[in-house]
Amino acid sequence: MNIHILVGTMTGTAQLCAQEMELALDDGETVVSTLLMDQLDATVFQREGVFLICTSTYGQGDVPDNARALYEDLKAKRPDLSHVRYGVFGLGDRTYAETFNFGGKRFDELLAELGARRIGERHMHDASSGVLPEETALEWCQEWLAKVKDSVAAG
Ligand SMILES: Cc1cc2nc3c(=O)[nH]c(=O)nc-3n(C[C@H](O)[C@H](O)[C@H](O)COP(=O)(O)O)c2cc1C
Repeated sequence: MNIHILVGTMTGTAQLCAQEMELALDDGETVVSTLLMDQLDATVFQREGVFLICTSTYGQGDVPDNARALYEDLKAKRPDLSHVRYGVFGLGDRTYAETFNFGGKRFDELLAELGARRIGERHMHDASSGVLPEETALEWCQEWLAKVKDSVAAG
């Protein structure tokens, strides 16, 4: 099985989490590729496999700059993503109470609108919690992988 981790980041924290998750999940049976969202467009979802959106939040609850082109392309082209299954590992900071973790939320809502099916709950890391996101990511992704395997087995 292939897993594609798509990374939206401004200062590299989401990328660090993605690297940890790639190391944890890639075991030969599960092959993981990590792609920064820079220069990706909606066609990335034509790839075979399951997608993991790993993105932070910026501005007024926006997706990071490097994620904007992909997000806008999906919104403009509105491809049918009913074949797509995905998870979301979001990063944010509860200090931004009104827009907490909106980067992951925006992708989640858009993908669902386009027919994709999420596996597991959307994770919402809180930078103000003092918990290291890359540690949470390790734990979270193992649980997520188990759900992915169940979901793929169920068809
Ligand atoms: C200028 C700025 C704006 C931010 N805006 C939000 C926001 O609206 N909502 C949120 O949950 N987090 C917000 N954050 C927190 C980041 O998403 C969080 O620190 C994240 O871990 C950064 O990950 P990155 O290094 O991958 O970009 C903001 C951080 C900065 C510096």
